[in-house]
Amino acid sequence: MKFVEIKNFTKDLISWQREQGRHHLPWQKNRTAYRVWLSEIMLQQTQVSTVIDRYQLFLKRFPNVRALAEVSVDDVLAEWSGMGYYTRARNLHKCAQVVVNEYDGNFPSDPELLERLPGIGKSTAAAIAVFSYGVRAAILDGNVKRVLARLWGVDADLSKSAAVKSLWAHAEQLLPSTPDDLVSYTQGLMDFGATHCTQYQPVCMSPDKGACLFRNRCQAKLNNQVELIPLKIKKINVQQVHMDWWIFIYKGKILLEKRPETGIWAGLWSFPEQNLSHKNNAEKLNVVKHVLTHRHLNIQPHKVLLSAQFKKINANQEWFNLRDALKLGLPKPVSSFLKSLDLIHGDV
Ligand code: ADE
Repeated sequence: MKFVEIKNFTKDLISWQREQGRHHLPWQKNRTAYRVWLSEIMLQQTQVSTVIDRYQLFLKRFPNVRALAEVSVDDVLAEWSGMGYYTRARNLHKCAQVVVNEYDGNFPSDPELLERLPGIGKSTAAAIAVFSYGVRAAILDGNVKRVLARLWGVDADLSKSAAVKSLWAHAEQLLPSTPDDLVSYTQGLMDFGATHCTQYQPVCMSPDKGACLFRNRCQAKLNNQVELIPLKIKKINVQQVHMDWWIFIYKGKILLEKRPETGIWAGLWSFPEQNLSHKNNAEKLNVVKHVLTHRHLNIQPHKVLLSAQFKKINANQEWFNLRDALKLGLPKPVSSFLKSLDLIHGDV
């Protein structure tokens, strides 16, 4: 793959970041490896506005890597509740334990070592190395792929590893050399992708949002390919899944069930999916819809007010009052549903 020269790209991006980029995100203050790592994992699949609050709460609960390593994974899942992609929380916990046991509580600065830790991919390893240690390494997450592909007019299929390999090599070529510049440059790529060269309606396609500083140098813009790049080839197969929730209520308590360690919402608490009651007094509530990456869930809740507690429940089931239930690791639709049940019916 050939990359044309874009004059002053690195220098101009650095100046742009210093003048117009983001400087007051909580993880930009007091940049320790632990804080940077946590923010990067949260930001992998959760938007900045949500992460800002959740990051502060998480740090309050687990102020350092040792505090995180010594609790149970259920405590971490509970703190992660509602943010989705729970494998991140499991890996966070595993990673904290490796850092404590193998690195005496200090994250390594070498991106290759960082990349061997649970939950840390090549781009995240580079971001941690740059932001916490000033190490010269290139990031290439989804946003950065889009920015580079547009600027250099890469219309290859980015689901193919050869194209991505070329982009990695190019990203490395573009790096500035001093640590100070590296931080502004890396943050600049992130900020430019998040605020200017966005997937939908980038600045260059919506003139009311201002002008793009690369408007005269961007190959996609010059060749009228902005909406084509990055090329979208891979379609995810989305599966429709029906699920039943049995909401058993007895004297203000709700029966919850810890889900298996694999599959949807692994290890989190949800409602039983089978009817355990022999009496037919269930009330069907409105269907709850929830979208996951590969699945669209259509959930039918059935509310059952019990007059006597079940004699026997499964080992993975437990009765909770609402307040304790809300402290567990819960998928977002379960916590929202529990809260609405309380508000509307007042019987929990
Ligand atoms: N997205 C991923 N990492 C980020 C960071 N450090 N700041 C803002 N957005 C990000």
